[in-house]
Amino acid sequence: MREMAIIVVLAAWLALLPGCGPVDPVDAVTDLPDTVTFADHIAPLVRSHCMPCHSPGHAGPFALITYGDVRRKARTVGHVTRQRFMPPWPADTTYSRFVGERVLTARQIALIGKWVEQGMPPGDTAALPPMPVVQEAGGLGPPDLVVPVSGTCTIPGDGRDRFIIAKAPFELVRDTFLRAVAFVPGNRRLVHHMNGALINYPEGAKADVFAGSGPIDAEQLGGPPAFAQLGLANDDGSWPPLVPSVVNYLPGLAPLVLPEGLGGLYLARKGAFLLNTVHYGPSDREATDRSSFHLWFARRAPERPLQELAMGSTHTPVVPPLHLEPGEVRTFSTRLTVPKAISVLAVNPHMHLLGTRFKAYALRGADTIPLVRILDWDFRWQYSYTFRHPVPLRAGDVLVAEGSFDNSAENPDQPFDPPREVQGRDSRFMRTTDEMFQFFVTYVDWRAGDESLPLSAVDPSVGK
Ligand code: HEC
Repeated sequence: MREMAIIVVLAAWLALLPGCGPVDPVDAVTDLPDTVTFADHIAPLVRSHCMPCHSPGHAGPFALITYGDVRRKARTVGHVTRQRFMPPWPADTTYSRFVGERVLTARQIALIGKWVEQGMPPGDTAALPPMPVVQEAGGLGPPDLVVPVSGTCTIPGDGRDRFIIAKAPFELVRDTFLRAVAFVPGNRRLVHHMNGALINYPEGAKADVFAGSGPIDAEQLGGPPAFAQLGLANDDGSWPPLVPSVVNYLPGLAPLVLPEGLGGLYLARKGAFLLNTVHYGPSDREATDRSSFHLWFARRAPERPLQELAMGSTHTPVVPPLHLEPGEVRTFSTRLTVPKAISVLAVNPHMHLLGTRFKAYALRGADTIPLVRILDWDFRWQYSYTFRHPVPLRAGDVLVAEGSFDNSAENPDQPFDPPREVQGRDSRFMRTTDEMFQFFVTYVDWRAGDESLPLSAVDPSVGK
């Protein structure tokens, strides 16, 4: 009995350590085949879990496709998979489940380990099925319209991250609804992430949506002055309505495709996507990017439009107010009462460099409805997570988000040496080294049966 208690306490303690989530242990896997080969065991998992990013022109720094590719990197592949550093998928799959999860099972990790240990036997690589064909947006076919970003973005070869604000304006023959929208990077290697909003100009408010400057370095100019320079204002100087976060990009993140009638984004005849911001990874030589948005129109007006609840910085009070002294480690929270019956489709946690853990759930009386948990926050992999089925919430349920931050010198993502006082700021004046704590909930109005509706996503870069 005593031993039991100690084991339980130890397990609880381990679960609190960052990076030591309650994941299935790799060492416990025993039923592996005597010989692990590339053709039989490794190729299928590399094709589904690594190749979407690790192929030429994509975000991964090298290709992982052929036997030669993977053998060349075998030791690091063994290491990064065992550390669960790759494939990147921060959400804890023991807490909640999402569409398009790219997580290796303990068995798959153990298979890679054994294959490396055995000297990487190829097996019968000639018998491998042909490579999946790269095609445009899975089931949706070619886009109805491609909207390019205004102007080319130049990324200097100085080895620094860049944050750029830009717009992609469009003019249509009539207003319509979108079925799906995908951000397609011109330079997949350097575009690390993009957060895109939609501007719809009221009829007659704007003569020329294409006028205005090209991409702007967000560290030089941000917020309204940058938006003005891009020419986003109405002709009378007022601001047009803006729908935030309608399209986000991260390598390996598939855009959401909802069943017809659900979601559907309204597009006015004149409008623009506002890229605020595009994050480019460092490059050691000068490079350019011209990204675009691919649009698929809906055949009919949606019955239930997508809506969003926004929590945290600039939206709901953060408790205590977001502020970190040098060396301080602290957890903050924010709450929001659900105003009506809703069906949650996707959630998007957001923090910056110093975030370490994130958890969001809904409270209904004494019950907790888990939404998302991230045990080891990584600024670089901020996904918007789509549930496999909508999660129904009732009016009066309380949404809670909790974010932990570490402003000590021990945090490997600490940008300052020594650590500085850190402000939580208004998004209009943000820099990456300021902190933010936000949580976004994408939903539609609730309807009976929603919880069994299947949600899916298509990857515009890789066919099935
Ligand atoms: C979502 C895109 C994505 C997926 C999926 C992905 N990678 Fe990566 N990988 C990257 C990027 C981007 C980098 C560059 C390092 C970084 O940005 O963190 C990288 C880096 C690596 C590295 C180098 C790490 C180092 O420290 O030098 C290895 C090895 C690797 N990946 C292996 C894999 C394997 C094996 C898989 C599949 C099991 C995989 N990756 C899946 C995007 C991805």
